Amino acid sequence: MRDSIYILDRLVKRYGHREACNIAHMEIIRGEILGIIGPSGSGKSTLLRLLNLLEPPTSGSVTFDGTVFDGHTSVDIAVRRRMTMVFQNPLLFNTSVLSNVAYGLKVRGEKDNREKAYQFLDRLGMGDLAREHAATLSYGEAQRVALARALVLGPDVLLLDEPTANLDPFNVGVIEKLILQANREMGTTIVLVTHNVFQARRLAGRVALLLDGREVEVGPTEELFSQARDPRTRAFINGEMVY
Ligand SMILES: Nc1ncnc2c1ncn2[C@@H]1O[C@H](COP(=O)(O)OP(=O)(O)O)[C@@H](O)[C@H]1O
Ligand SMILES: [Mg+2]
Repeated sequence: MRDSIYILDRLVKRYGHREACNIAHMEIIRGEILGIIGPSGSGKSTLLRLLNLLEPPTSGSVTFDGTVFDGHTSVDIAVRRRMTMVFQNPLLFNTSVLSNVAYGLKVRGEKDNREKAYQFLDRLGMGDLAREHAATLSYGEAQRVALARALVLGPDVLLLDEPTANLDPFNVGVIEKLILQANREMGTTIVLVTHNVFQARRLAGRVALLLDGREVEVGPTEELFSQARDPRTRAFINGEMVY
């Protein structure tokens, strides 16, 4: 039997009459990189917020590591700390890079938070940015710092919403390397939302396609790219989908 860290069951999220997400059943395997692809408005960000237990589902449930969360369950801080989300346009605090990265550790009561943050930045090849003020960073550097700020907490699950949208190729490469490194070296389960099918193919072990809030198809990456069952998956992958 496979070891699923998440099990989604009849998970529905509505905003007013608008159904943003409706997943009959989905499992996320511990330690995998799952790519979620789909056009704009297909419910990718909504699904990530549900996985982050930030928003209660309208109906159905998210089971995280054996605990069932439905619209009425309160989320324990210890559970929330096991997952970290990097939003599409992350905001950095108006201080130094080092303070940004140390912040989460400090909140968690780590005494040597600044030293740890510095060592972590250095290990990621970003030690030279530590003293910079966040406001002076380029967009690409800021995205890297936001990822470092999430990774330094050593989460079991990293939820990434379009982590490289609007980035130059150099920074895309650096961020993709960091994502793979976190997965391989720390065993972090990663859910990577991207509208970039090439990125999903480069990084993910499995890929799921969402359309109109529903999962069209999920499968091992190479299988999905070479022999998708659903014609809509083939169309999306080949860039032929009109939306
Ligand atoms: N907070 C919200 N309030 C109202 N509608 C929302 C909200 N968040 C998302 N939606 C709607 O849900 C649908 C899915 O949105 P979203 O999850 O952001 O898609 P994606 O990330 O794939 O672009 C869209 O129609 C969007 O307008
Ligand atoms: Mg989105």
